[in-house]
Amino acid sequence: MRANLRTSTKEPSATRIVLGVAGGIAAYKSVELLRLLRDAGYFVSPILTPDATRFVGEVTFSALASEPTRTSLYGDPTTPIPHTYLGQNADLIVVAPATAHLIARYAMGLADDLLTATLLATTAPVLLCPAMHTEMWEQPSVRENLATLRRRGVLILEPDEGPLAGGDSGRGRLPHPQKIFETLQTVLGGGAGPLAGQSIVVSAGGTREPIDPVRVITNNSSGRQGHAVAEVAARLGADVTLITASDLPLAADVARHIDTVRVRTAAEMHRAICDAASSADIVVMAAAVADFSVVVSDHKLKKEDGVPRIELTPTVDILGELVKNRRPGQVIVGFAAETHNVLENARTKLKRKGCDFLVVNDVSADGVGFDHPTNAVVILNQRGDETEVPLSSKEDIAYQILSKVSGRDF
Ligand code: CTP
Repeated sequence: MRANLRTSTKEPSATRIVLGVAGGIAAYKSVELLRLLRDAGYFVSPILTPDATRFVGEVTFSALASEPTRTSLYGDPTTPIPHTYLGQNADLIVVAPATAHLIARYAMGLADDLLTATLLATTAPVLLCPAMHTEMWEQPSVRENLATLRRRGVLILEPDEGPLAGGDSGRGRLPHPQKIFETLQTVLGGGAGPLAGQSIVVSAGGTREPIDPVRVITNNSSGRQGHAVAEVAARLGADVTLITASDLPLAADVARHIDTVRVRTAAEMHRAICDAASSADIVVMAAAVADFSVVVSDHKLKKEDGVPRIELTPTVDILGELVKNRRPGQVIVGFAAETHNVLENARTKLKRKGCDFLVVNDVSADGVGFDHPTNAVVILNQRGDETEVPLSSKEDIAYQILSKVSGRDF
């Protein structure tokens, strides 16, 4: 399960859970889930899709829940706009079962019933519990819709293997309500996700070295890959500090979970990273740090004074410093943007820098590197392993990098 999001210190009775039920045979199990949630004291608001009411009764849910079951966007006597009321007040939304149709509508951003509209109107963590026949579970369309939702921070509890409706057997069975309940409690209590308890420092963006009060020397780095690493690490439950020279905004679902330090120059980045790295488990140096800074003029250089002579001085090699001062067990990851002899240069750089991993990309290739939403990289380690990650979104590359460097599989 890819996880993260937020931790709740609220009492169960003050914790509002929306229980969404879509139209699948496993809908009967959500009655038991509702009972477990109520027994634990949570405030539960059920939403049944119109198809769910073909499988389970509204009255059953209303009798067990904290407030009456809702099934429609319209005709609610308590509020004219139930989706915003439910979405904004939820501490967590769980959809069990989530059918292939519900998953597709959610991934598309459709809001054609109360449940999908509520899912769009919330910033709370969402846990989907898919349940369907194996053939449907394995359909590329379902896989892709789930991948899209995962990238947006939605938590997916994978179905179990076992007997399915109609006498079939295979993967697709809704997990036992107790398992869903325990997963929910982990998400609400924090600590969810394979990187929970790990502290990660990520640097991103191209530093800007001032020449005079109006001019700078910089590079083409957009910061997208470093931001994607920070966002994905947060979704995986890590404690993330991002030190960035990029102005890019962070993804809305995780922005508030990332401790962000904005810097401009290589010197500022050096200071911020030294502070943060002293207690980090993993440091990812995705930033394109200037190798030289300028001896800055305190006044604007004027044309009439002729072609200026710009004096450069070397900056500190931050990655080198990190390796020199690393604390025991700390994993350090460097990046390399190359344009020729890519792997050869990367192998030499990995040795020279002494970091544990080096992520190299060929920035001259199509769709790769600076300012593209996609990237293609090779991840090298000191044992000589080289893992090629073909052209993929920067989020997917981030998952691969974090999986490799943390030694976890997700
Ligand atoms: N790096 C750093 N401090 C610097 C320059 C680079 O920490 N002053 C880090 C980058 O964040 C990256 C790695 O070092 O993780 C490699 O950066 P790169 O520019 O590719 O390597 P350089 O050592 O600068 O070598 P060259 O530019 O000659 O390829």
